[in-house]
Amino acid sequence: MGKKNIDWSSLGFGYMQTDKRYVSNYKDGAWDEGCLTEDATVAISECAGVLQYAQTCFEGLKAYTTEDGRTVCFRPDLNAQRMFDSAQRLEMPTFPVDRFVDAVVQTVKANIDYVPPYGSGASLYLRPYMFGSSAVIGVKPADEYQFRVFCTPVGPYFKGGAKPIVVKVSDFDRAAPHGTGHIKAGLNYAMSLHAIQTAHREGFAENIYLDPGTRTKIEETGGANIIFVDEDGNLVVPKSDSILPSITRRSLVDVAQTYLGLKVTEREVLLSEVENFKEMGLCGTAAVISPVGKINDHGKEICFSNGMEKMGPVMQKLYDTLTGIQMGRLEAPEGWIKVIE
Ligand code: PLP
Ligand code: COI
Repeated sequence: MGKKNIDWSSLGFGYMQTDKRYVSNYKDGAWDEGCLTEDATVAISECAGVLQYAQTCFEGLKAYTTEDGRTVCFRPDLNAQRMFDSAQRLEMPTFPVDRFVDAVVQTVKANIDYVPPYGSGASLYLRPYMFGSSAVIGVKPADEYQFRVFCTPVGPYFKGGAKPIVVKVSDFDRAAPHGTGHIKAGLNYAMSLHAIQTAHREGFAENIYLDPGTRTKIEETGGANIIFVDEDGNLVVPKSDSILPSITRRSLVDVAQTYLGLKVTEREVLLSEVENFKEMGLCGTAAVISPVGKINDHGKEICFSNGMEKMGPVMQKLYDTLTGIQMGRLEAPEGWIKVIE
């Protein structure tokens, strides 16, 4: 079998059912050995913990075809560790890191014909997730769980690909102080749906959330961390305990320092100082680096020097270096690339 007959370069960020997915069940205090299945449906109790009390967490990572034709994943061990941390915070059983990576590898291999070809601009998005599957009616953790990994070929997260977007400062909060903002819990996204639909209805691509305690500091967007470039061309990265520890952001910090020789400052960033920055980008697995052209803060516009047509020069260098590493054009730091063999 060869690659599927898909118009790869016109894919958006959507779900397409692929051939196989990985499933493992947790019962009587242990995970079973897990297997691949063709069944894309899930059958659970009407009273399952996930349905009643949103006991679920997920991950997102991508597989790529490299320039020399290999299939690779980017840092799946970090997704495995983050899901481990999410599960602990949600009182769910942890799924072992090495088994997570193996499940990802099995899922990619079983759907290899859906991995978009090199140069198509698309990639295979993997969605590992876990949920409470047994019945709970009093508020408590479920006794049984399911871990699954499916995959779907995707294109750019934002329409227009690398074209700058306009974002708004949201009046809603994404994460409570001492809450769950730092883990990838489904509940964080459920409560962001009204905010994102509101932003879309007003013509904005995404929301910038402020820190819920003081509403003066930049946190992140609904699906990506934020990075800035200052007047000297160096990177400024908002720091907060209530944002998701993005693997893309952590990788970009290394890339900026070691590949590009930039100074990186990770610190609290006030909304009031953002007008001093030259470039802004949203970074994440789905977003890669999406440049921001303008922020709308309750009618006041904060414009970045790249304008609305193209990425600024520093974001472009970061983008080229990160995607160069992911697609095998540049040598990767030790352990960043998992080759699917
Ligand atoms: N922040 C949020 C809220 C996200 O949903 C994501 C996506 O996973 C990110 C940041 C980016 O994280 P990563 O780079 O690990 O994909
Ligand atoms: C990702 O980048 O993997 C995400 O999970 C962001 C969004 C699709 C929720």
